[in-house]
Amino acid sequence: MTVGVDAGEGRETELERGVGEILIEEDTLQARIGELGRDVSADYEGRDLLLVGVLKGAVFFMADLMRKLTVPCEIDFMAISSYGAATDSSGVVRILKDLDINISGRDVLVVEDIIDSGLTLSYLMRNLTARKPASLEICALLTKPDRREIDVNVRYVGFEIPNRFVIGYGLDFAERYRNLPYIGVLSPDLVPDGT
Ligand code: IMP
Ligand code: MG
Repeated sequence: MTVGVDAGEGRETELERGVGEILIEEDTLQARIGELGRDVSADYEGRDLLLVGVLKGAVFFMADLMRKLTVPCEIDFMAISSYGAATDSSGVVRILKDLDINISGRDVLVVEDIIDSGLTLSYLMRNLTARKPASLEICALLTKPDRREIDVNVRYVGFEIPNRFVIGYGLDFAERYRNLPYIGVLSPDLVPDGT
């Protein structure tokens, strides 16, 4: 599903002042996650599904997605360094927290909030492949195809979005705004120079 940018109105809290426009409303997000849940459930029927969430942004999406699954699943988490306060990728990837469990022989579905350059996920996929899972796929809520630097094979995508810096529903700017229930575009006043 491809979406454009809509101007939002009536946003007044301090949190909401960081939002330039609403890109994906809460209802639209939840409806699409329902569809993804049905697709994943159909594909993983009778298998040994393990959802691997990439901290911290994917937590919100993963929690909602797994409640739409009609197949049994387990969860685990990894944390990888990506951005600090800046909105551009450093390309430097480092494991901050590794998985608790052994994924050898498991059907692993990596759950990500957003794929931008693809650098983070392409590193992660190489790393996880070496652990010999039975299968390894990606489910990303958002993707920015225009920003891709490395090809990543993404099995499930929620929404393709334009090249804008987005916040909310797990996505942060300098660790804030994750608790917005929708996806918004960061207010132009807050975007650092060079992006
Ligand atoms: P990549 O390695 O460039 O694909 O970066 C992926 C990571 O960068 C995501 O997991 C996010 O943490 C972060 N990121 C990329 N684009 C955005 C954005 O528009 N808003 C918030 N975080 C972003
Ligand atoms: Mg982030």
